[in-house]
Amino acid sequence: MSPLSTLALLALTGVCSCQTSDCSYLDLLTYLNLTTTNGAAVNMRPVKNWTTPTLVQVDMVPFGILQVDEKTQTFTSHIWINMHWTNEFLTWNASDFCGIDTLMVPRSSLWIPDVFIVEDVSDSGTIQHSPLVSLSPEGSLLAITRQRLTATCLLVVTLFPFDQQRCNFTFSSMNKASIMLGPINNETALTRTSEEFMVTQGEWELDKMEIFEYRNNISRYPDKLIYTVTISRRPLLYVVIFILPLLFFVWLDVASFFISEARGEKLSFKVTVLLSISVLLLILKDMMPSTENHLPMIAIYCVGIFALVGLSVLEAMLLSFLHDLDGYCKARSPDNCEEKIQLEEDFYKAEEAPENGPVPPDRPEGHDLLKLILKEVKTTRQEVGGPNKDEMRPGRYRRLADIIDRVFFSLYLLTAVVFLTYMYTAWISQII
Ligand SMILES: *[C@@H]1O[C@H](CO)[C@@H](O)[C@H](O)[C@H]1NC(C)=O
Ligand SMILES: *[C@@H]1O[C@H](CO)[C@@H](O)[C@H](O)[C@H]1NC(C)=O
Repeated sequence: MSPLSTLALLALTGVCSCQTSDCSYLDLLTYLNLTTTNGAAVNMRPVKNWTTPTLVQVDMVPFGILQVDEKTQTFTSHIWINMHWTNEFLTWNASDFCGIDTLMVPRSSLWIPDVFIVEDVSDSGTIQHSPLVSLSPEGSLLAITRQRLTATCLLVVTLFPFDQQRCNFTFSSMNKASIMLGPINNETALTRTSEEFMVTQGEWELDKMEIFEYRNNISRYPDKLIYTVTISRRPLLYVVIFILPLLFFVWLDVASFFISEARGEKLSFKVTVLLSISVLLLILKDMMPSTENHLPMIAIYCVGIFALVGLSVLEAMLLSFLHDLDGYCKARSPDNCEEKIQLEEDFYKAEEAPENGPVPPDRPEGHDLLKLILKEVKTTRQEVGGPNKDEMRPGRYRRLADIIDRVFFSLYLLTAVVFLTYMYTAWISQII
């Protein structure tokens, strides 16, 4: 006999010996009376004594943080729920069935605990139940569900973008009197599993998961299981697109005090800075919820900087008005400019004085020529050098403007420093 046929014979005898006892899943299903749908098995809680509560253990593993919406206060994630309970009627002796130790049973033919998530506001169709539940010889069942879960969550954005959010997922049952809820794995194992399987987190990072078993005064057993998921935001993007640009704007505004007052450039520069800040404010408005009672720190920061720059625009306007007033005053020579006009007259007298002084009599031609040149120079100076004289001798309003500018600049710098320091201590240092 060839070795091949020996092998075939051996295999055949192996199969034959197996067929003597119940080795197929069908035999086991038949033994458990699960081949036909049995209404009682589907609807009745599977306990032999009705006073025995059914312990339902639930594990929730988030494996994707899809969206956290501050506006609608919802947290969308992709989760995996394992639910474990015992059916006292579905037991068998593994050795009677060739050692079958797991049987996959259609979900529809069994009693399934009605456990739901209280915060769930998902659309229908986001739950994906596994069609089969696995059954082991002691009657313990494990059902697996995947869900795209949108849950309400109170998002506190005061420290945005350095915020940390805690969202509760409360598992509860309508059938409170007879169902006890508990976790399968502990917190650290769950957090580890979740971190291992996390596919997408977006701008968030899973910090930790905590489990609380909650029991109200009336019920005998813990009838609520709360999973608290703590996530924290990765703030870098917001630092780069928001906080640093605003800081730059303040610096630019401080620097703009050194732009010369002439030609109104200072004012238009400051207005441009103000406009840039209002663009950022618009973006911020789209991100922040209007449900907050306390203004988020980032809003205070934006508005504070807006106000600072706004004030400095007003001050620039005042200065430019004072300068204009000075110019106007000079042109029209009204009464309140007397002092200035007096000064100007003195200046001209002083200039004319040497002309009338004694002249050496022995050089008449040279004297005439010199006189002619001096006259020419004087007229040229009056035409060209007129404005220079004005700048050298600023008017009363211009002097006032200079004082205002200096005082305002000092106050502005002080306020900006105090404000930014406050922001730092109350906001950014909270996370460090
Ligand atoms: C299946 O049903 C038969 C007859 O109704 C009953 O005798 C048997 O105990 C049931 N088996 C199980 C495992 O419940
Ligand atoms: C979340 O659950 C914890 C534990 O029971 C509780 O202390 C906390 O107030 C809950 N948070 C919210 C927002 O309900």
